[in-house]
Amino acid sequence: MESLKGRDLLSLADLTVAELHSVLSLAIQLKSGMRKLQRRKVLGLMFSKASTRTRVSFSVAMYQLGGHIIDLNPSVTQVSRGEPLVDTARVLGRYLDAIAIRTFEQKDLETFASYAEIPVINALTDREHPCQVLADLMTVQECFNRMAGLTLTYLGDGANNMAHSLLLGCAMVGMNIRIATPSQYPPNPEIVEQAKAIAAGKTEVIITDDPAEAVQKSHVLYTDVWASMGQESEADDRIPLFMPFQVNDSLLAKADDDAIVLHCLPAHRDQEITDGVIEGVRSRVWDQAENRMHAQKALLASLLSDD
Ligand code: CP
Ligand code: NVA
Repeated sequence: MESLKGRDLLSLADLTVAELHSVLSLAIQLKSGMRKLQRRKVLGLMFSKASTRTRVSFSVAMYQLGGHIIDLNPSVTQVSRGEPLVDTARVLGRYLDAIAIRTFEQKDLETFASYAEIPVINALTDREHPCQVLADLMTVQECFNRMAGLTLTYLGDGANNMAHSLLLGCAMVGMNIRIATPSQYPPNPEIVEQAKAIAAGKTEVIITDDPAEAVQKSHVLYTDVWASMGQESEADDRIPLFMPFQVNDSLLAKADDDAIVLHCLPAHRDQEITDGVIEGVRSRVWDQAENRMHAQKALLASLLSDD
């Protein structure tokens, strides 16, 4: 096991390829057995956006490791009354062993991490959602018994956190990644360049506005909401533009015969994915959601290790 003791996870690319594989194999081992932290540790959860899976899977993972969590919803801390982030970071860093933060700006996460002398975990920002991709890759490994050489097609908002973390994660494990998105919603060019540098010409990094072409021979179809948290006011306007990217039976029929369908959840049935597909035989979304807990337990065990 590669130790990540004391490290931050602000972007998936903060891990080396070897460390990513190490977290994923530990997650698969932990799924069939428990492991305790040598000393009771405390994880803070500072979430400025709603969460079901991330909040609960981190909490249960921490309890199962023998640690504790403290819910630091900004509305019940002095953050809501304007205490500067840098002061909050320095103080919380003296109490907690690690903190998972869900916020808007990646910059705020980075600022917090530079002032708090504990591991800071990205629990979703507008730019990235690395913990989700740990579970996604774990699910791919479980379903196909390999990752390298497979193709994942993400359909929907190419400019969101999931598209960005999948670009990095797939490139890191040797998977081809195709982002099918309306041309008005391209991924952040900096992240596309980062993914291409990781892929080093050995695997595909494709951005396209042609969903039918993008799913050809693809092993994993992945989608996410068309309007992310904070973009609710744009939701209705986005629907007609994104509708051609909906994951439905006819698009699924164009993918590989053994293709699986993933969605980070929460899902809007009959927008980005049809009810038939999410409830259908190709869907692995419930295993994927369960794997959040195993993958994060592995991450926590590594970040908080006493060794
Ligand atoms: N997929 C995910 O992060 O879910 P939550 O928003 O419920 O945490
Ligand atoms: N892109 C979505 C992911 C939710 C888990 C959002 O940021 O709302």
